[in-house]
Amino acid sequence: MKKSATILTHASQLLTLRGNVAPRRGSQMADLGIIEDGAVLIENGKITAIGTTDELRPHSKAADEIDCRGKVILPGFVDSHTHPVFAAPRLIDFEKRISGASYEEIATAGGGIRASIRGVREASDEQLAHHVLTALNEMSSHGTTTVEAKSGYGLDLASELKSLEAIKRAAENWPGTVVPTLLGAHTVPPEFREDHDEYVRIVCEEMIPAVCGVPQVRAPHLGANLGNNARRQLASYVDVFCERGAFTPEQCVRILRAAVQHSLKTRVHIGQLTHTALELFAEFHCTSFDHMDHVSNADIAFLSRIDAVATLLPAANYFLGLDAFPPARRLIDAGVAVALATDYNPGTSPTTSMPFVLSVACTHMKMSPAEAITAATINGACALDLQKKKGSLEPGKDADIAIFDAADYREIPYWFGVNRCWQTLFAGRE
Ligand code: NIG
Ligand code: FE
Repeated sequence: MKKSATILTHASQLLTLRGNVAPRRGSQMADLGIIEDGAVLIENGKITAIGTTDELRPHSKAADEIDCRGKVILPGFVDSHTHPVFAAPRLIDFEKRISGASYEEIATAGGGIRASIRGVREASDEQLAHHVLTALNEMSSHGTTTVEAKSGYGLDLASELKSLEAIKRAAENWPGTVVPTLLGAHTVPPEFREDHDEYVRIVCEEMIPAVCGVPQVRAPHLGANLGNNARRQLASYVDVFCERGAFTPEQCVRILRAAVQHSLKTRVHIGQLTHTALELFAEFHCTSFDHMDHVSNADIAFLSRIDAVATLLPAANYFLGLDAFPPARRLIDAGVAVALATDYNPGTSPTTSMPFVLSVACTHMKMSPAEAITAATINGACALDLQKKKGSLEPGKDADIAIFDAADYREIPYWFGVNRCWQTLFAGRE
């Protein structure tokens, strides 16, 4: 008979990441809190004890045991930046880039994000939910247990709501944790080519009120079209793509102000292709600034003073074939808390694998394997404001755990292009 507790024993290395619940900075990022011959006790989906196998031995009679000899146990990865709601891969963009065109050139010629719009608008809820669920399952097979998932390829009210509904439905069928984000401001759709500000108005006055879960007062006419959607919270965050060719800093500020007014949390795509000063967004207390390929010393000084995390997305640089990668060393050495995420999307990063991202971070950004693991676990949890529940293995936290077929944690970024994840546990269950 199945026992009510589970005990993981004899891990070569148990990476606890124990410590404070704030984002880890500087030398803290290299401290994984390793216990050799480690054990974890799990009861009712929570971690109740960690220690050596000997220390936890008294608990083992009452628990189902999973022998983790020759394995590394760590917190499940927190993939804090993904765009999983799309219908098809963008193979034309892929080939054009191989022939020498840049991401921006392809976008200006009608490819890029705009090339994914029609597929999402034409897809059914079921098709989109199925696609998202497939991605979530791939992610967890690589050790991910928490995922932030953005809309952003529908780019009209109905299609953004459909995208967030698809995330919700997929999340209900996946044992991990999903944090939904409205990215209505991903790019201006073609029908508003001549009037970007009108599209920004729609994001602020129609999309944000429709996803925030509060009954609409100011736009009652929408209720008729939306049925119950207007009253269900479909997003926790609002994100914006602040970039040349997408949205200006001033437009982003308008959108994020609307988000805050509707009690939604905020995050920003910034500095991917060109530089924008981060301090423009100080008023929003964003939990994360994402991409950050182009940063100034003033941005770094600003970030080192606040709790926001810099979420770096090097799989996008890899897939775009860029020579430059996000400046992880400059950021970490200056005391900025760095997270890593896949940026899973059809244009710049068609990967669901956090171990691959860690590998690129080590080889191309000179993060140490320990820093990369911290960035992908506790700092990713901070990027989603989930650090009290996720991101480390400590009593009281959710038993979201990845077990790797490796005797040393450095093997996780070392073996690339193969999957060494042996088991993933969500609240203590497979
Ligand atoms: O994070 N930068 C904006 N969004 C995505 C790319 C989206 C796409 O090309 O489809 C990113 O890289
Ligand atoms: Fe992104």
